[in-house]
Amino acid sequence: MSATAIIRGRAGGEAETGFDAQSIRADFPILLSEVHGKSLVYLDNAATTQKPRQVIDAISGYYLQTNANIHRGVHLLSERATQAYEQARVKVQRLLHAADAREIVFVRGATEGLNLVASAYGRKVLREGDEVLVTAMEHHSNIVPWQLLCEEKGAKLRVIPMSDGGELDLQAYERLLGPRTRIVSFVHVSNALGTVNPARRLVELAHQAGAIAVVDGAQSAPHLTVDVQALDADFFVFSGHKLYGPTGIGVLWGKRALLEAMPPYQGGGDMIRSVTWEKTLFNELPYKFEAGTPDIAGAVGLGAAIDYLDRVGLERAARWESELLGYATLRLREIEGLKVVGTAREKAGVLSFVLEGIHPHDIGTVLDQEGVAIRTGHHCAQPALERLGLVATARASFAFYNTREDVDRLAAGLARVKEVFA
Ligand code: ALA
Repeated sequence: MSATAIIRGRAGGEAETGFDAQSIRADFPILLSEVHGKSLVYLDNAATTQKPRQVIDAISGYYLQTNANIHRGVHLLSERATQAYEQARVKVQRLLHAADAREIVFVRGATEGLNLVASAYGRKVLREGDEVLVTAMEHHSNIVPWQLLCEEKGAKLRVIPMSDGGELDLQAYERLLGPRTRIVSFVHVSNALGTVNPARRLVELAHQAGAIAVVDGAQSAPHLTVDVQALDADFFVFSGHKLYGPTGIGVLWGKRALLEAMPPYQGGGDMIRSVTWEKTLFNELPYKFEAGTPDIAGAVGLGAAIDYLDRVGLERAARWESELLGYATLRLREIEGLKVVGTAREKAGVLSFVLEGIHPHDIGTVLDQEGVAIRTGHHCAQPALERLGLVATARASFAFYNTREDVDRLAAGLARVKEVFA
C-alpha cells in the first residue's frame, strides 16, 4: 500500500497494522545505544540497516566453529563451510523466487552486480550507435557503469524523464525505446525519493522493444516482496547490508541463459574448470562469476538475515513501514517551511525533505545532537536532485524496527533545528 493510500486511509479511520516493532527492537543491540547522551533514533536505513543479534551470531558462529575455504578441501570444515555458503544461496533463491540457485551470483553488493552486468553482458552485446536507457532517478551505481560502457563502445546513454513529484514519464519512455535500445536499467525503489517504479511494466516495454531489463533492487528487496520470475526482468541486484545482513556481500540474479552466454567478469581461482597455458575452460554457473575466495561469512550472515526477515514477515513489515511513512509524512508536513521531496503515489519508506533557509547538512548535524540519525546530501543521486533544482536534501528512511515514537523524535528534532536557526 502506498503512503498516500495510508494517509487517505487513516483520515478515513483505517485501523493500524498492529505490527509489534517494539519487541523486534530487542533483537537489534545497537538500537539500545545512546548518542550524545540521547537514546538513538536510527532513520538512515536506506544507507544501511542495523543487524539483528541472529545475524551477528551467525557470522561469529561461522568463524568460531566452521571457518575454512569452500569448494576446495576434502576436510570436514571445508565441507561444512561449503554447505553453509551454498545454503545461503538457496535462501537468496527463495527470497527472490528465482527458478534456479545457479542463477544467484554472490557479489560485493548491488554496485558490483551492476558493474558485472555492464562489463560482462554489456561489453559483449553493445555496438556503436546502440542505446542504453536509465531513469532520471538513478543512484550513481546505475549511471556510471553504463557511462563507462557507452563511452568505450560509442553507444548512447539516454534518460527516461520524471515528473516534479518523482514519477517516471511512461509515455516518454515508450518514445525513447527503439530498435537501437539494447539495455534498460532502472531502479525499483528510488533511494533519494522513495518512488516505487512500475517495474513489471518497465520490463514488459523493454522486452517489446527487444531490449533486456536490469533492475536495481537495492532499496526494494529489503522492503517489498520480489518475484524475479513474475517480474520477468533479465537481471536483478541487491545489497546484503541494506537487508539486515553484513556489508561486503550482495547478489546478482540473472536469467540462466543470459548468464551462460556471458563471458566471465573476473579471472582467478574457483571460476575455472581447468587451466593450461593454451586454454582455460570456465566453471559452470554460478562459479564462473565468483573468482577468488568469496565473502563466505558474509553469505552466511545474509542467509541469517533472510531467515530473520522470513520470521518477521516481509509483507507485514512492508505494511508497517508504509504506515510509518504515512505518519511521518503527516507529521513533517505540519512543519512550516518544510517541503517533502518525492511525492509519488507509490512510495516505500523514504522521506526526503528540505527546510526553507536551512542547509540539509545543518539539519542533520542538529538532529544528530538530538540522537536522531538521518542522511543528508545528494544520496549518490546527483542528477535526480539536479532535475528537481536541488543539490541536497535531508532524508529519513524507515525499517520495520522503527516506531511512531521515532517519528515523533524526528519531528521534535526538526522543531529544535528551527529554533537553532531562527
Ligand atoms: N545508497 C545508499 C543511500 O542511499 C548509500 O544512502
